Amino acid sequence: MTVFRGTFVDTPHSPFTGGRLREGADLALVVEDGVIVAREPWSAELHGDDVVDLREGLVLPGFVDTHVHYPQVRAIGGLGMPLLDWLEKCALPEEARLADATYAASVAADFVSGLARAGTTTALVFGSHFAGAVDALFTEATRVGLRVTSGLVLSDRILREDLFTTPDRAFDEGLELAKRWHGQGRTRYAVTPRFSLSCTEPMLESAGALLSQVPDLWFTSHLNENVEEIEGVRQLFGCDYATSYERAGLLGPRSVLAHNVHPTLQELMQLARHGAAVAHCPTSNAALGSGMFPLGSHLALGVRVALGSDVGAGTGFSLFKEGLQAYFVQQLLGREGHRLSAAHLLWLASAAGAEVLGLADTVGDFSVGKEFDALWLRPAPGCTLDVALRHADSTDEAVAKSFALAGPADVAATWVGGEPVHPA
Ligand code: GUN
Ligand code: ZN
Repeated sequence: MTVFRGTFVDTPHSPFTGGRLREGADLALVVEDGVIVAREPWSAELHGDDVVDLREGLVLPGFVDTHVHYPQVRAIGGLGMPLLDWLEKCALPEEARLADATYAASVAADFVSGLARAGTTTALVFGSHFAGAVDALFTEATRVGLRVTSGLVLSDRILREDLFTTPDRAFDEGLELAKRWHGQGRTRYAVTPRFSLSCTEPMLESAGALLSQVPDLWFTSHLNENVEEIEGVRQLFGCDYATSYERAGLLGPRSVLAHNVHPTLQELMQLARHGAAVAHCPTSNAALGSGMFPLGSHLALGVRVALGSDVGAGTGFSLFKEGLQAYFVQQLLGREGHRLSAAHLLWLASAAGAEVLGLADTVGDFSVGKEFDALWLRPAPGCTLDVALRHADSTDEAVAKSFALAGPADVAATWVGGEPVHPA
């Protein structure tokens, strides 16, 4: 049994439907076998000395990144290009290097540690085009203890040829990886065609066949990110982007589509009908000039949304930064934008992701019965965030200041299931 003492802030109910920030000041969370079994005011008599003292700063639910590319950790920061140029010049040359298993293992170590240091405890990860490299990611995530859903990335056209596979090989290698990793500990398998633009219809059909073959697999890909890409998909498939996935049986409640910056009304209704969710990746959308995310229309049509860092087009692992950029974009959209409060930002970075990934019964907030996944935000004494937090007059202010100012350097520790994952 471990007792965590501190100020815990979370969002047990969505602020998009009336929920607010919940603050527990000087609270004791009693954790047994990774699960919160009691949540009560701190008492020296009750809780004794064997306590993890987190009274400085704030404790937040572990962040959930619903879209991040493992092979791109070393490609962050390629500015000045739109999507298709960026892929060719920045991302794909690095992704090709993961054909080498030793190289892949070292990238996996950088990647998993990058997530943990940013306070991310759960992620839906775009894997690699190479089965050995996907294996290396699952192995490293398991060693460290993060909750990772990932899979083999599939392509058979348009990209560089050394990343190609065939529909049969994609099915066989995916099945093998799913057998090895799906439902093992904290790992799960996601069928992952890169995007319709780089997949023939037989490739998408092979993805659909694997999805229906193994129970409860996840599906992830990209959708409606960039206008040139969208036009390419229309030329190749003769239909809209969402329909290219729907035809192959790839849309459902365990489907997470990244970006969706330029959806049609039809496509939003289609996603809502299937219960599919969207990973909003705001720093990537800005860095690649992809566009401004129409959050309001997703919410109005009942499409679930959570945050993704989209590293390496995104500019780092921190969901504090993604939350802030999501806020900026909605501000800039003016009357078309959705005004986001501190509570919305925390929800989007934590519980919304847990919900989108089907883990809302397990993680996402600090209620009794959930596993203790947490990040400890404790900035260095005297830094601007430290000053801001000490002068915050309310929990809303403290969380807003955190999103404005915090980054990985301010995350002093991260836990998954009550066990520390950072520092290791
Ligand atoms: N679409 C296809 N591949 C990618 C990728 O790696 N990053 C982004 N942002 N979009 C993509
Ligand atoms: Zn992406």
